[in-house]
Amino acid sequence: MRVLVIGNGGREHALAWKLAGSGHVDRVFVAPGNAGTSAEPGVENLPIPANDTDALIGAAQAHQIDLTVVGPEAPLVNGIVDRFEDAGLPCFGPRAGPAQLEGSKSFTKAFLDRHRIPTASWQAFTDPDAARQYIESRDVPMVLKADGLAAGKGVIIAKDHGQALAAADEILVDQRFGAAGRRLVIEDFLEGEEISFICVASGTQVLPLATSQDHKAREAGDRGPNTGGMGAYSPAPRVDAELHQRIMDEVIHPTVHGLVQERIPYLGFLYAGLMIDAQGNPRVLEYNCRFGDPETQPILMRLRSDLAGLCQAALDGKLDQYTIDWDPRFALGVVMVAAGYPGEYPRGDKISGLQEVRSDNIKVFHAGTRQEAGQVITDGGRVLCVTALGATVDTAQQEAYSAVGAIHWRGADWRPDIGWRALNR
Ligand code: AMP
Ligand code: GLY
Repeated sequence: MRVLVIGNGGREHALAWKLAGSGHVDRVFVAPGNAGTSAEPGVENLPIPANDTDALIGAAQAHQIDLTVVGPEAPLVNGIVDRFEDAGLPCFGPRAGPAQLEGSKSFTKAFLDRHRIPTASWQAFTDPDAARQYIESRDVPMVLKADGLAAGKGVIIAKDHGQALAAADEILVDQRFGAAGRRLVIEDFLEGEEISFICVASGTQVLPLATSQDHKAREAGDRGPNTGGMGAYSPAPRVDAELHQRIMDEVIHPTVHGLVQERIPYLGFLYAGLMIDAQGNPRVLEYNCRFGDPETQPILMRLRSDLAGLCQAALDGKLDQYTIDWDPRFALGVVMVAAGYPGEYPRGDKISGLQEVRSDNIKVFHAGTRQEAGQVITDGGRVLCVTALGATVDTAQQEAYSAVGAIHWRGADWRPDIGWRALNR
C-alpha cells in the first residue's frame, strides 16, 4: 500500500511515522512535509503545498497512492476530499459538508442546538449595532469568535463589556479576520477544565481514540496568549469511565447521528474540544474536523494498532469490527517554539543536539523545520514536539524535558510545566 499524508506540521510527522511503521504500507509520501518527515525511513517529501489540490491529485495518480490522509483543516474545509473522491482516489477525512463543523462556528452552534447537544448559549451577528446591543445585555466574561477559519486566532475572551465591544468592532467593522469574520458568534464563557476528545468516525460508527489534553496558553500556569498548543499528553486522567460514557452518549453519538440525519455523514478524525464543569458535565466548545496538533503526537506514541488498517476500516464502513490496542504507558509531548511565538518569530536558525536524543521511549516530532545544506533549521513558530513514554506522568515528563534540554537553537523556548494538571491529580 502507498500512502500520501498532506500537511507539514508535527501532527503530519507523527501520522507519516506511524503509517510508515505499518506492515501493509510500502511507502509514505508527505506533501510538503518537513525536515523530520524527510529523514524518516520509508517516507519521502513531495514539494507540493497543502492547498494545491490539482497538483496533489496529480501526484497521487503519478505515485499510485492507495490512501491519502489529510492533516490540516483548511484543505478539508475547502473540499479536498470531495475532489479526491471525484478523481477516484480514496481519501481519509470529511468532505466539505461535514467539515463545516470546523469551518463555521455558527453552523456548529446551530447544529448543536438542533440536536440538543450541550454547548454555551450564543447568538450570531453580521450587524455591529445588533452585536453591541446583545453585548450590553449579557454578563461578562463573554467569548467572541470569528465565524470562519482564522488559524486559531479568531477567539477573544472579553473580561468586561468594553473589551467585548472593542472585539466586536475589530471583527465586524475593521474586518481583522477578513472574510472569516463577516459573521461574529458571541457566546457565554464556560468555567471548568478543557479536554480534547478525538474519535475516528465513519457515518454512525465511531471509535474513540485514547483521551488527551493539551495546553493552549503560551506561558506556564496556563497564562498568556492562546497558541495552537504548547504541549499535550495522553491519557487525560480527568476523563474517567463515567465521564467517557457521558461524552459518548451526550456529545459524540448525537453528533454523528445528527450529521447522518442531515445527509452530511462524517468520515475521518473528529475532534471535540470540551469544557468539563465542576459537576462533571461536558459542553462542546468547538469541533475540529481533523486530528489535534499536538495531541496526535502523544496519542500515536501509544497506538499499537495499525494506523493504515484503522483508516481503511473507516473507509470500508467496518469500524464496528475494529478494536484499538493502546500502550498502557503515559505519553507527554513538549512543544519547543521559536522566540516570539505566537507573535512574530525568526526563521532559519540552526538546530543542534537532535542526534543526542537516542531512546526508544522518546520521539522528536518536527513541525516548523527545514533541511538546508545538510543542516536542520527552524522554519516556523512551533518547531519541534519532543514526546516521551513513561510508566507514570512523572517519568514521561522527566524523559521529555531531559531530551528538550539536549536540543538547542538561538531563542528556543518551551513551557516548563506540561502535564501539571495530570501530575496534580
Ligand atoms: P475555539 O477555537 O472555539 O475552541 O476557542 C479557542 C479556545 O478558547 C478554546 O480552546 C477555549 O480555551 C477558549 N474558549 C472558547 N470558547 C469558550 C467558552 N465558551 N468559554 C470558555 N472558554 C472558551
Ligand atoms: N491542539 C489544538 C488543536 O489541534 O486545535
